[in-house]
Amino acid sequence: MSLFEARDLTVSFGGIHAVRDLSFDVREGEIFSIIGPNGAGKTTVFNLISRFYDVDAGTMTFAGEDITALPVHRVAERGIARTFQNTELFEHETVLKNLLIGRHVHRRTWLAEDLFFLPRVRRQDLAFREKVEDVIDLLDLQSYREQTINGLPYGVRKMVEVARALCIEPRMLLLDEPSSGLNPEETEDLSFWIEDVNEDLGVTIIMVEHDMNLVTRMSHRVLAMADGVELAVGEPREIQEHPAVLRAYLGD
Ligand SMILES: Nc1ncnc2c1ncn2[C@@H]1O[C@H](COP(=O)(O)OP(=O)(O)OP(=O)(O)O)[C@@H](O)[C@H]1O
Ligand SMILES: [Mg+2]
Repeated sequence: MSLFEARDLTVSFGGIHAVRDLSFDVREGEIFSIIGPNGAGKTTVFNLISRFYDVDAGTMTFAGEDITALPVHRVAERGIARTFQNTELFEHETVLKNLLIGRHVHRRTWLAEDLFFLPRVRRQDLAFREKVEDVIDLLDLQSYREQTINGLPYGVRKMVEVARALCIEPRMLLLDEPSSGLNPEETEDLSFWIEDVNEDLGVTIIMVEHDMNLVTRMSHRVLAMADGVELAVGEPREIQEHPAVLRAYLGD
């Protein structure tokens, strides 16, 4: 069953089509990768799904709901979380604080209640903290929890970003180039965490990634795109050998 469906997505900037007539489905429980040369439109697709950009045309549905015009602040509560191509964390705050902020979207109390610190708020705060500690355990971040972001190795920062996304308990997680800037060992670790998140937590994953080894090893299906359009979609091996994909990467 499809969890997410994109139909004929189109968006352009100053006359340049960043994405054009793009359709694809992501099945529940899948690791679905999007590949393509620089400027192909991969991050733009994420910006459309997470509603940072509006479509010029086309529709998106998530869990049966039309999310094409969903307000950006509603995306997380529907169960969609993302990480960024360049990590966006609060540099001078601790890992723990960054995760508590990430979780904030699930708060159900009113601001006025917060001010008076009513029992319901206290209970929620405790539940938040427990969730955050679960995520810290899951991603093995215990030894970093009180450290500030700006002192962390790059590989750890990337994991903190994944952790922050997980704190909203997403049904679908969008990862934009998770392995960029990581060494081979860190990339290996990352791939295991992503598999755990997918298999143990049942989170559906859309991953934009340039590392073809990682893509081939981890993905159930791959969408290849270039210049805003689909080149091919299928199993990793098919895509790797697809003539249109080879042409896009290597030229004629
Ligand atoms: N906000 C924007 N304003 C103007 N042009 C944009 C904007 N966002 C994306 N574009 C353009 O859309 C095209 C696709 O960009 P996008 O960032 O989606 O590519 P990408 O596939 O993620 O590339 P990379 O692999 O380098 O990250 C590019 O030509 C880019 O310059
Ligand atoms: Mg990009």
